[in-house]
Amino acid sequence: MEILREKIKDVQDADRYEHTLSVAYTAACLAGVYNVDINKALRAGMLHDCAKCIPDNILIKMTEEYNISCSDIEKRIPFLLHAKVGAELAKEQYFETDIDILNAIRYHTTGRPEMSMLEKIVFVADYMEPLRNKAADLDIIRKLAFTDIDAAIVKILLGTLSYLRKKGGEIDPSTEETLQYYIGVSSKK
Ligand SMILES: [Fe+2]
Ligand SMILES: [Fe+2]
Repeated sequence: MEILREKIKDVQDADRYEHTLSVAYTAACLAGVYNVDINKALRAGMLHDCAKCIPDNILIKMTEEYNISCSDIEKRIPFLLHAKVGAELAKEQYFETDIDILNAIRYHTTGRPEMSMLEKIVFVADYMEPLRNKAADLDIIRKLAFTDIDAAIVKILLGTLSYLRKKGGEIDPSTEETLQYYIGVSSKK
């Protein structure tokens, strides 16, 4: 963990690094509640934004190098690619081999249907870590995260979509797909 921390500190600006630490520790707390390996949660949290500070033009180049398929929206808004590129970097530069951790990195921005518990944890921790303060209903989401993580996911996705609609931002169809799936999951409980 210490080596990983130093490596990540080198590639992130100060704010992003603070956020990264917060996500890692929040993920570790959630892992304790949901019986997930705490070290895996820490690693996934530390690595989730390992490609976030890479400029757009280099991110695009890297998708070609790694043979990553880009959706139309990712071509228009390249920073969305930091999740997919991050998963590849985690493998190549941070020697991460755990597929669950790599998937948690890859899907941390949009989520996906049928996420593993680790994927859910990183997705939720990214949104509600203690340094986040701008999103609506964070107090409710922080409680739900520890009591009903699927309901927290629904609330996060609704918040993200309403924020994007308000500011006229483009919506990644994967976000909508994840929302519909977890609305279904929550309604069956
Ligand atoms: Fe991210
Ligand atoms: Fe993040």
